[in-house]
Amino acid sequence: MPTLNEIRSTFLNFFERNDHQIVPSSPLVPRNDPTLMFTNSGMVQFKNLFTGVEHRDYSRASTSQKCVRAGGKHNDLDNVGYTARHHTFFEMLGNFSFGDYFKEQAIPYAWDLLTKDFGLDKEKLLVTIYHTDDEAAEIWKKYAGLPDDRIIRIATDDNFWSMGATGPCGPCTEIFYDHGPEIWGGPPGSPEEDGDRFIEIWNLVFMQNERFEDGTMRELDMQSIDTGMGLERIGALLQGKHDNYDTDLMRSLIEASANITDGAPDGPGNVHHRVIADHLRSTSFLIADGVMPSNEGRGYVLRRIMRRAMRHAHLLGAKDPVMFRLVPNLVGLMGQAFPELGRAQALIEETLKLEETRFKQTLDRGLSLLDAELKGLPEGQNLPGETAFKLYDTFGFPLDLTQDALREMGRAVDIDGFDAAMAEQKAKARAAWSGSGEAADSTVWFDIAEEKGTTDFLGYDTELAEAQIMAVVKDGDRVDTAKAGDTVQFVLNQTPFYAEAGGQVGDTGTLETDSGTARITDTKKVAGVFIHFGEVTKGEIANAQAAKLEVDHARRTSIRANHSATHLLHEALRKALGDQVAQRGSLNAPDRLRFDFSHAKGLTAEELAQVETEVNSFIRQNSPVETRIMTPDDAREIGAQALFGEKYGDEVRVVSMGTEDGSGKGLDGQTYSIELCGGTHVRQTGDIGVFVTIAEGASSAGVRRIEALTGADAFRYLSEQDHRLAAVASELKSRPEDTVDRVRALLDERKALTAEVAQLRRELAMGGGASKGEGAEAKDVGGVKFLAQVLNGVSGKDLPPLIDEMKARLGSGAVLLIADAGGKAAVAAGVTPDLTDRVSAVDLVKAAVPHLGGKGGGGRPDMAQGGGKDVENAQSAIEAAEQVLTG
Ligand code: SER
Repeated sequence: MPTLNEIRSTFLNFFERNDHQIVPSSPLVPRNDPTLMFTNSGMVQFKNLFTGVEHRDYSRASTSQKCVRAGGKHNDLDNVGYTARHHTFFEMLGNFSFGDYFKEQAIPYAWDLLTKDFGLDKEKLLVTIYHTDDEAAEIWKKYAGLPDDRIIRIATDDNFWSMGATGPCGPCTEIFYDHGPEIWGGPPGSPEEDGDRFIEIWNLVFMQNERFEDGTMRELDMQSIDTGMGLERIGALLQGKHDNYDTDLMRSLIEASANITDGAPDGPGNVHHRVIADHLRSTSFLIADGVMPSNEGRGYVLRRIMRRAMRHAHLLGAKDPVMFRLVPNLVGLMGQAFPELGRAQALIEETLKLEETRFKQTLDRGLSLLDAELKGLPEGQNLPGETAFKLYDTFGFPLDLTQDALREMGRAVDIDGFDAAMAEQKAKARAAWSGSGEAADSTVWFDIAEEKGTTDFLGYDTELAEAQIMAVVKDGDRVDTAKAGDTVQFVLNQTPFYAEAGGQVGDTGTLETDSGTARITDTKKVAGVFIHFGEVTKGEIANAQAAKLEVDHARRTSIRANHSATHLLHEALRKALGDQVAQRGSLNAPDRLRFDFSHAKGLTAEELAQVETEVNSFIRQNSPVETRIMTPDDAREIGAQALFGEKYGDEVRVVSMGTEDGSGKGLDGQTYSIELCGGTHVRQTGDIGVFVTIAEGASSAGVRRIEALTGADAFRYLSEQDHRLAAVASELKSRPEDTVDRVRALLDERKALTAEVAQLRRELAMGGGASKGEGAEAKDVGGVKFLAQVLNGVSGKDLPPLIDEMKARLGSGAVLLIADAGGKAAVAAGVTPDLTDRVSAVDLVKAAVPHLGGKGGGGRPDMAQGGGKDVENAQSAIEAAEQVLTG
């Protein structure tokens, strides 16, 4: 009996043998489709190949695609666990031709695989075709030898497959298996078709049309093939089972669930184990593909599935969290085919455990409230909507969880009442918003949030996505279209663009629709709505259009590197300066990073070098950067750094990187950096490249700021510095490593020379040929020895030492020196200490200055200075000073 893993391999091997490229499953969150919540069939990742918009280097492909159907159009959640073939998660096996082969080959492939490789009995197979598709009928007849009564023509949409309201589509042929008359049911198209006797196993779609928004269709230029076969269904058939949950893989999970709860897979708890087995698969795969539980969008669908499983575990009497303990079983069963599961195992376990622990706290209380309400309700009456809303609002019971609980008692919820209670609560919240003093223009974002829901952020995993435009806003008002030249803001249902937060700048890039293109210059968010600031550069962009969004990759790559480097810098600073270092702010821009932190004094060169060295060593360690979701308390427990004063929600995103030995802290006692952070990061620390600080200084009292560069910018900076050093070395005629000594020696030499020049000047002034009044003699003026001299070639600042020297030479007396410094005159006077009672140097200068065309002058009684511009009048200035002495 082949296992599901073997059946998957047989399928893929068959098509590989037939020249198909085996393509890995695409993620559950579609990157290229704005209308789909989750990938729900194999063709989703190939959508644009069918329409000819995209080309790849293969024209035949085969996949085993992960699919989730829960929330949105195909919502099977209510039935899952209770029926034989409903799942929230399943694998779709498919083969695809993009303008390569068509029906003539697709049908034979399917027939051969089923009847030869899978060995199904030809007599038990029958098919449906679209009622006008004679061609397909002919091939079935000729190749498979099917008689007319086993080729059933169907005129409805059942045999015209389309992905959604728009997109590629075409007639299809479905292959059915007849389980025999002992099971009730009729062939497709008959009144008994819903019975279990005839089971559809494979759908072959002949993609030849494209449907547009207005309902019209065109013939595609090329004819393609898209087939889909549920692995669980074909598995059940090949394993001789009638119920998908009896296949080896599902059975293993059911037994694992029983093992850790009631021990009886087939006892009264069977349906609960089935729910747990199915939901374990969808939740684990969704988390592995980047979806996190939340109260909006995809995250809310995930939460609904998780909580539904948790209620069933509760019904089994489980006291402790169950789901997270089953993850290793799932990884063991499916990890080889889907390696992403193993890579995300820790994250899946932690996320499930956290959700289970938190939900458990309210589950009991919610269920007893529900019991009490039901006791008072007459038989058959629906649960009042208000109660269901209270369960939702206060106890975290998604509506479908309450419905699921009631189903077992044959009751339902009054949905109108639930909707009314929900609307009332929204109205109250809205009233609170307007009263909160938000900026006036932000009310439009609140309106959009309320009407259209918030924006789903995809940018942790992708920089390219399609999305639906939810609103176009121009000058604060919503508009229908924007044309080339307009500056507007766009809101979309989902986006890869990061909105400015936590120091990380908003993304830029492009937005493109069928009719126009816009440049996105910034992204911000208000009330959960991502605002894309755009300038329409071409054509026209209309509200409600589908748009292709592409983040500027190079810019985002640099931002990622700078953001991750900031985390390493933070930790390195704590290591170098002490644990009291706390983040005060940061900027993660494409071209630089800035980090502000509390620290009383500047970093020494050694400290800065230590920090830089440490950051670079963790970059070279190239450890993966990991993210997980926790409660703020748990995060603090493992030593995560949080921003002081910041408000955090019930759940926080924790980013960790680097491994060190024996630090005694962290997730595992060894993690280097752990921070609460919503930003985007590199995959591995090595992606940062290199880190270099370019400035360290005070930002405000007690707060230091470090600016730094990473990657190409850091390299460019270092390389420029290197070239500068080489140029300096060449000027100095030394080797770069000797430049510091060379410069020091030059500075010493310069200092010595300066002193020598000053000395020479003085000597020259006093005795050499530079002075006019050569060999000036002191004369007696009013009983004081007075020496006055005009000096050439000296400056004002040379005068004081000369005055001192002359005073010393006189022993007792007064000196007046006037420097002729090229168009400027400087004057200084000195009086020996024995005479300062009688004469003040200040008075001498003040008397002389006006004659030199200056003003003022000042100093002490023994030494004063002043200046002017008319050195020609030096003689009268000297005379004026003499008059002061004569009194
Ligand atoms: N797209 C078709 C389906 O989902 C065949 O793969 O059934």
